[in-house]
Amino acid sequence: MRDNSQSIKVSKWLSKHLESLDAESEIIDLNLQRLPLYDGDDSSPASEILAKLESAEGFVFVSPEWNGTMSHGLLNMLMFVDDELAHKPVMLAGVSSGRGGHYPLMQMRNMVYKNSRFVVSPENLLVQGAIDTMNNYEFKEAYEHPVEKRADYALKILIEYAKALATVRSGGMVDSANFPSGV
Ligand SMILES: Cc1cc2nc3c(=O)[nH]c(=O)nc-3n(C[C@H](O)[C@H](O)[C@H](O)COP(=O)(O)O)c2cc1C
Repeated sequence: MRDNSQSIKVSKWLSKHLESLDAESEIIDLNLQRLPLYDGDDSSPASEILAKLESAEGFVFVSPEWNGTMSHGLLNMLMFVDDELAHKPVMLAGVSSGRGGHYPLMQMRNMVYKNSRFVVSPENLLVQGAIDTMNNYEFKEAYEHPVEKRADYALKILIEYAKALATVRSGGMVDSANFPSGV
């Protein structure tokens, strides 16, 4: 939610890495694509973003830890969602300049999944010491940095979940009409 954040650097780095794994990716930068606070009624301000979410087969949520909390911009965006993410996998990435990042990981796992029905991959990513990691380290193909090794693995697992969950969505059992609220 601010210019030159470390989180957008993490997003760009992961997006590049996804391309090296032959997966197309697109970043939705909620700092640039600002949404109004969701009012429970009008989803039209998010229509462009929702169309992108609908066309995607999997997601990476990248969130900084601010005040011990996940990105309020991401939470607000997820309030606009209907079933664009339903039965699609999400890889979580928590970002902290210090030793934090766990809170957004736990919160993203618990928040909003009920109605949107996304499926969280157990293989998440924690980028701590983000200023140093994102600015002073040159990532190499040999995956020498532990964060790079971890990102590579978590993204590969995300891709496997995307393939597997596509069969769930096409299998004819999903019934969002009768069970729209996840209860
Ligand atoms: C308003 C604000 C609150 C923050 N609160 C926390 C925090 O609770 N825990 C933490 O580990 N880092 C905190 N940070 C530092 C972030 O970890 C750091 O800015 C990091 O780069 C991720 O945020 P960014 O994507 O905005 O750069 C905070 C930063 C800001 C601007």
